[in-house]
Amino acid sequence: EGFEVAILGATGAVGTRLIQQLEQSTIPVSKVRLLASSRSAGKTLQFKGQDVTVEEAKPESFEGVDIVLASAGGGVSKKLLPEAVKRGAVCVDNTSAFRMDPDVPLVVPEVNEKALYNHHGIIANPNCSTIQMMVALEPIRKEFGLKQIIVSTYQAASGAGQSALNELKQEAQDFLDGKEMKADIFPTKGDKKHYPLAFNLLPQIDVLEDNLYSHEEWKMIHETKKIMLDDMDSTDIKVTATCVRVPVPISHGESIWIDTVDHDAASVEKIREAVKNFPGAVLEDDPEHQVYPQPINATGKRETFVGRIRPDLENKGAFNLWVVSDNLLKGAAWNTVQIAEHLVKDDLVHVN
Ligand code: A2P
Repeated sequence: EGFEVAILGATGAVGTRLIQQLEQSTIPVSKVRLLASSRSAGKTLQFKGQDVTVEEAKPESFEGVDIVLASAGGGVSKKLLPEAVKRGAVCVDNTSAFRMDPDVPLVVPEVNEKALYNHHGIIANPNCSTIQMMVALEPIRKEFGLKQIIVSTYQAASGAGQSALNELKQEAQDFLDGKEMKADIFPTKGDKKHYPLAFNLLPQIDVLEDNLYSHEEWKMIHETKKIMLDDMDSTDIKVTATCVRVPVPISHGESIWIDTVDHDAASVEKIREAVKNFPGAVLEDDPEHQVYPQPINATGKRETFVGRIRPDLENKGAFNLWVVSDNLLKGAAWNTVQIAEHLVKDDLVHVN
């Protein structure tokens, strides 16, 4: 009378939120398996007040598992999720491993829940920055159409994982103590050079590619098209992105410029109304009272907060807005669990 659920990467920044979001979800859970690397095997975590021992993730860990929620890195997902599917599980993957696979739905439930019906065992959770942009822009696209998106992100440290968040805190402490800051992770693990993030801004998230964009920027461009238009190469919406890491622990900010299709219909008032009525979006836009979205207020919440909506003064039908959401919740753990809730509700996953 319930699903057996495995959380892959249960000890990480997203993994710990996956546990919490699953506890609060509508999914009936008969058993939970917490999987991580061999380093964490034997450690104890809690699920609904019960101790659960963390196990090393192996192909056999998925015997009898119905639902896998994965956030242990792309390499781990590539290796282990096909093993889980072989054993009858449906996987919701928070990594970028399968996002662009044409057989893998890339889903933000508020936008393209229907794509779930075409799943073949793996469903991908989009990149954190893409997800919150979709929640903010879909109500506008639905009503007025979208021709173009220009986005600059202000991305929190926790997007790079728990160790990255620890590094930011240590750097800040060292800076205030007058010591030298030690950088091992930012801008991105495994790259040749590392720079401190504390009291700094880094215009590189993930690797820089030959096309001069960072991989994070590439993801925002192509994932947006796959989610909104069901075609990653479509030119129906032009998208360009600049992704910047900022010394904020949790919750990403985004400055977004959009050009609508229906220039005569679109107005600030109507966009506010559309955002207000869209599930998952919260309008926080009251300039008179200095109300606008902030990472400090968004952290710990499932919603995407939208404000500073204003017209481009020189381009009719174009607008600027500011969007903030908890990158570990809607950007990761909550969207993943929300997808799993829809799979259960729509009868797209079964008890093995
Ligand atoms: P562990 O804590 O044992 O290293 P974050 O995104 O916060 O860095 O977390 C990454 C998550 O992925 C952690 O739970 C981590 O477990 C897990 N992980 C890392 N490498 C592996 C691996 N090879 N197999 C399974 N889980 C892994």
